[in-house]
Amino acid sequence: MRISVIGTGYVGLVSGVGFASVGHDVLCVDIDEEKVEMINRGEPPIYEKGLEELLGVLVTSGKLKATTDTARAVVKTDITFICVGTPSGEDGGQDLSYIEKAAEDVAEALAKKDDYHVVCVKSTVKPGTTDGLVLRALESSGKKVGDDFGLAMNPEFLREGIALKDFMEPDRVVIGALDKRSMEILAEVYKEFPAPKVYTDLRTAEMIKYVSNALLATKISFANEVSRICEETGIDVYDVMGGVGLDHRINRDFLNAGCGFGGSCFPKDVKALVKYAHELGMSSHLLDAVLEVNEEQPVHVIDMLERNMGSLEDKKVTVLGLAFKGGTDDIRETRALPMVKELVKRGSEVVGYDPEAMKNFSFVVDYIDYAGDLEEALEGADACIIQNDWQEFKELTSDDFAVMKNKIVLDGRRLLDPSKLDGVTYLGVGL
Ligand SMILES: NC(=O)c1ccc[n+]([C@@H]2O[C@H](COP(=O)([O-])OP(=O)(O)OC[C@H]3O[C@@H](n4cnc5c(N)ncnc54)[C@H](O)[C@@H]3O)[C@@H](O)[C@H]2O)c1
Repeated sequence: MRISVIGTGYVGLVSGVGFASVGHDVLCVDIDEEKVEMINRGEPPIYEKGLEELLGVLVTSGKLKATTDTARAVVKTDITFICVGTPSGEDGGQDLSYIEKAAEDVAEALAKKDDYHVVCVKSTVKPGTTDGLVLRALESSGKKVGDDFGLAMNPEFLREGIALKDFMEPDRVVIGALDKRSMEILAEVYKEFPAPKVYTDLRTAEMIKYVSNALLATKISFANEVSRICEETGIDVYDVMGGVGLDHRINRDFLNAGCGFGGSCFPKDVKALVKYAHELGMSSHLLDAVLEVNEEQPVHVIDMLERNMGSLEDKKVTVLGLAFKGGTDDIRETRALPMVKELVKRGSEVVGYDPEAMKNFSFVVDYIDYAGDLEEALEGADACIIQNDWQEFKELTSDDFAVMKNKIVLDGRRLLDPSKLDGVTYLGVGL
């Protein structure tokens, strides 16, 4: 099939590459000219494992191209996926302005197109957005839904860091559609994907995405709250969750205590679901608590360090991991930010290090030092906090920590085995 993808961020580019790699012809669209030029040179504008190699092959073979011209992309393809951002608005609800603009751009092209075209929203949007704001914008083309164009909603569940693998091997593909023809075309797009397909209506598809993220965030905050209780009792929360997670009704995944959840999805999607509930006149006690625990957790980690080493004033503290998780350069809602702010507030000299995210983080935080490599980051430090889970942090040994002044390691992701660390004061979240 001929597919256009609007927005070449984490979701759009990975989707475009994924669709092209199973044989579809893909035209990616972005308003950012620099991104478009990079993609056409085979260089991904974002870091994602395996993306550069695959993109290079697909660009060279002509299966994937990029453009800034939405109208051309829509006219030349059978289906358009809208993958633009849906950030939090000031009131915690969704800022749908990018979605609206993208749908208006598509509408302009639809007006010039004679054959049937499917428009599919892939961005995370609150229930009622696709058959509300998006449909209204598309109908401004003068074309009729169901006859001239189809409307679908296909949420994306990929995780940054392993986005390509997640896209190619999802647990399920959710396809919501307004009309039967769109449903069939979406089924054709995903023919090569072995995952179970959930065929449903637009609003259910939108809600499945929100509820998935809200439940995963709830598991994380639950684990963090339990971990604080464990820390006071001498019980290791990881041992507890190991036992709890063996119950198949519960499942071990996402029960890791740590520094809290970040990233472009969980915080904003939980906030948007809370706002949606309030708009409907409903309360959101549980989700409010999920967010509250998450806000407290980075400060709790700093408190833990202070309790164990005394005042943090004038102490050199290294934060290992600035991206919201390992394997990505994405710093949106990273827990490193509130941790760094808290350390600075308490008078520490902070050194940051991340294999991929230092450039992005330094745009937001220009008041700490950045280290060129791990050794430089740890050299002379009074303490270090492991904030995310890059592989190179998992491989740290006593030898690496030997260059520190005071070998205090606060493992915020429980990556290391303290029994293998000699001469190191090891502190672990939930331990
Ligand atoms: N990042 C994730 O891990 C992830 C996972 C699942 C779902 N999602 C959802 O997918 C959506 C996209 O997220 P993302 O992280 O890829 O966003 P992003 O911010 O990385 O990318 C959005 C891209 O859209 C482009 N854009 C904006 N308006 C445009 C327009 N009118 N025409 C063309 N391009 C336009 C921007 O320039 C940018 O490159 C969001 O709704 C998000 O919640 C994200």
